[in-house]
Amino acid sequence: MLLLFFFLVLAAPTSPEYTRPHPRPLISRPHKGSESAPQQVHISLAGKDYMRVSWITEEKSQSIVEYGKMPGKYSVAASGKESTSYHYFFYTSGEIHHVKIGPLEPSTTYYYRCGGGGPEFSFRTPPSAFPVEFAVAGDLGQTEWTESTLAHVGGKDYDVFLLPGDLSYADMQQPLWDSFGRLVEPYASMRPWMVTQGNHEIEIFPIIYPQGFKAYNARWLMPYQESNSKSNLYYSFDVAGAHVLMLGSYTEFDADSDQYAWLLADLASVDRSKTPWIFALIHAPWYNTNAAHKGEGESMRIAMENILYKARVDVIFAGHVHAYERFTRVYDNKADQCGPAHVTIGDGGNREGLAMTFENPNPSISMYREPSFGHGRLRVLNNTHAHWSWHRNNETNSVTADEIWLESLSSSSRCNHVFTSPNDEL
Ligand SMILES: *[C@@H]1O[C@H](CO)[C@@H](O)[C@H](O)[C@H]1NC(C)=O
Ligand SMILES: *[C@@H]1O[C@H](CO)[C@@H](O)[C@H](O)[C@H]1NC(C)=O
Ligand SMILES: [Fe+2]
Repeated sequence: MLLLFFFLVLAAPTSPEYTRPHPRPLISRPHKGSESAPQQVHISLAGKDYMRVSWITEEKSQSIVEYGKMPGKYSVAASGKESTSYHYFFYTSGEIHHVKIGPLEPSTTYYYRCGGGGPEFSFRTPPSAFPVEFAVAGDLGQTEWTESTLAHVGGKDYDVFLLPGDLSYADMQQPLWDSFGRLVEPYASMRPWMVTQGNHEIEIFPIIYPQGFKAYNARWLMPYQESNSKSNLYYSFDVAGAHVLMLGSYTEFDADSDQYAWLLADLASVDRSKTPWIFALIHAPWYNTNAAHKGEGESMRIAMENILYKARVDVIFAGHVHAYERFTRVYDNKADQCGPAHVTIGDGGNREGLAMTFENPNPSISMYREPSFGHGRLRVLNNTHAHWSWHRNNETNSVTADEIWLESLSSSSRCNHVFTSPNDEL
């Protein structure tokens, strides 16, 4: 009963001012294989030239991945630590496996299988140099709308998927994490899925589970150790010439926090000649003209905007608001040619529906906004140029609803700056 109450509180819209169109039904993805069959297979980048393969089995089985460059021929086998499982009230998860494989060659297709048997999967490693293409969508959930978004993402090639928080919308109903894992497997087993947490990942229950993120951290292990972070809730990675910061909107971010200290060290270690682009993902947007979730990202913006500005981050992606909105380059609420462009892309298709109401008149820093489900594509062509496009789900990938060319701040003689500390003079 208490659980139900908590669930309703979590699920309730936070603002009464907007109404959303009808949500579409949840999709159910039952497990069809045996107890030892691998399910919920997904991959993530795990440090230079390495990939982490994650999956779940209903019973204890070997944490081993066999892989190679030819279908059916596995020239290499890698083992991981013993699988783990977690409890959440009366739920006990399956056995969760994480195995790091590599070194792998760039732009190469590998065939693999998990646990010493089962079906064959394949993935392609990202390129080591430009061009590189990211697909981006947040607030996925697991509805018919989600399925449409995933079909659009998978309908056109890309290298890495970026998810700025809110994955399964399990909201404490743990079996929904499993069905989400099965729903995304056809995509997440083929391309690395790099995720950061949203509010729906928290799953704190007072006294019993005060820390939260139990399911998320167990299932969606990201390369935090590989990027010298102490927490799975924030980390970074490099792909081709892009450095990507995956920040935590629901863990501490103030100047005395571990996340803040990690971010300073991470930014100071970025070599712009190797990674001329820096992108960041958060969950609650710092800039938002939608009636939904207004102001929720403000404390994090106040804590961290200054350092991301000085570090010349090119674009900040957020989710949380179930709509699409793109801002011009901004800093401290004003247009600023040396600030990051902000994009809200919480349009994955979860059960809550769309956030329909934007404030009027439209502030001049907001360049495009629309409550439709869809996904974005960030194609980084070279050191100086990237192309961002947003695609609605009701159209083909070739139809672009919004697009913009971006020039990297590291290539701008006016803005170019090497970050050393928050006290940098600009
Ligand atoms: C980078 O890509 C842009 C867009 O295709 C192109 O105009 C520009 O010439 C390229 N720059 C270099 C150095 O290749
Ligand atoms: C897609 O949705 C938008 C917004 O609702 C609408 O204007 C457009 O006509 C739709 N396009 C198609 C092909 O249905
Ligand atoms: Fe959210």
